[in-house]
Amino acid sequence: MSSQKTVTVTDNQTGKTLQLPLIEGTHGPAAIDISGLYKNTGYFTYDQGFVSTASCHSAITFIDGEKGQLLYRGYPIEQLAEKCSFMEVAWLLLNGELPTEQELLGFEDRLTDYSLINESLKNFISGFYHDAHPMAVLVGVVGSLSSFYPVDASSMTPADAEVAAMQLIAKMPVIAAASYKHSVGGPFIYPREWLSYTGNMLNMMFSTPARRYEIDPVAEKALDMIFILHADHEQNASTSTVRLAGSSGANPFACISAGIASLWGPAHGGANEAVLNMLEDISEVKNIPRFMARAKDRNDPFRLMGFGHRVYKNYDPRARLIRKMCHEVLEKLGDSSDPTFELALRLEEETQKDEYFIERKLYPNVDFYSGIIYRALGIPTNMFTVMFAIARTAGWAAQWKEMLADPNHRIGRPRQVYNGPARRDVPR
Ligand code: CMC
Repeated sequence: MSSQKTVTVTDNQTGKTLQLPLIEGTHGPAAIDISGLYKNTGYFTYDQGFVSTASCHSAITFIDGEKGQLLYRGYPIEQLAEKCSFMEVAWLLLNGELPTEQELLGFEDRLTDYSLINESLKNFISGFYHDAHPMAVLVGVVGSLSSFYPVDASSMTPADAEVAAMQLIAKMPVIAAASYKHSVGGPFIYPREWLSYTGNMLNMMFSTPARRYEIDPVAEKALDMIFILHADHEQNASTSTVRLAGSSGANPFACISAGIASLWGPAHGGANEAVLNMLEDISEVKNIPRFMARAKDRNDPFRLMGFGHRVYKNYDPRARLIRKMCHEVLEKLGDSSDPTFELALRLEEETQKDEYFIERKLYPNVDFYSGIIYRALGIPTNMFTVMFAIARTAGWAAQWKEMLADPNHRIGRPRQVYNGPARRDVPR
């Protein structure tokens, strides 16, 4: 990976020059290794929002934002979405290769064992108000798992890390469904060995002990594909949060809880919930120009939710796949002329004719159309980001595991440019 290539930086004030090594990966721009900069020059670098900063080496996911390309372990997302199951993709992210039939069976079997939660965890869930936001419940309950599994990550073996990763992937849908059941006052439904990962999710949410719930194969497949599309996305805010929390050797369940908190924000995974709320506010095609005008107005904090991305300066490939899936799901499950979907399509069309959005390369992102599918599956709006979190747990766990296995990993500790008061004495 490392090369002998260097970049020369010159200090204009002293005329001193410094050779900084260039690090080249398989794809993507090379990175200037500035780790020796402070020691050699006394300067920090400044990059608010980490626009130009690589924080780690990773062999998991690659995004080419200019081309609108997304690869998991080298495989294009379009191929994985078409040919694989979420379970295969989760294994791929964790282990680097697609599983053999035997490996997949073994993985699913172990996840079944790990899917049970300690019975007393149900008391945590029932302690929340019925109207608690399910993301608040998820942050709290996943964090509390660290007390049931008080492992010390700094002394974990790779096998221990693998178990923690699988426990997280297995328990996340169970906790998510339990939080939903609590919000509607329904009884907790246990996971079933014979159901798929996504089939279980639907069953735990929608079945009751009184009535058998038939899992619709269209719903199960759609959810599975949505989970594949959300499974990982390189060093985004929540993944970086998981890595940063984990870099101190913190408990993995606590680290994932930190990632869930980061995901919740409307600029990140919380956007899927915000999109549906925004479409409801827009309500009719005739109101689109007013909302677009607000989004373009610098004095108005309003943004079109589900548009724009830090890395993609082209169409988000996940949004393209989800938009296509919307047509299929609505045709088979819901209203093929769903007015919300029609409105979303029209909003996309209008933005793509508008100079403001064209110039800034603002396209729909993964969160723009996903809510339309969730809604067709009967999933309430406040559960949308929870669904994202379930899928992303595979990526978070893989990234956390990768960091732990890196012999060179160090505690993450950014610096700052201090602009508070200069040193002064207490006036007493
Ligand atoms: N509506 C209107 N203007 C926008 C939008 C938007 N959704 N997104 C970006 N812009 C403008 C922004 O005002 C800026 O304009 P100017 O150059 O005139 O100052 C320009 O585009 C660049 O935006 P930025 O804020 O510098 O971009 P960023 O990389 O810091 O932020 C983003 C990326 C995703 C947070 C932002 O596009 C946004 O807030 N989008 C809406 C929320 C959203 O959909 N989030 C989901 C992201 S994808 C899934 C995920 O990460 O979970």
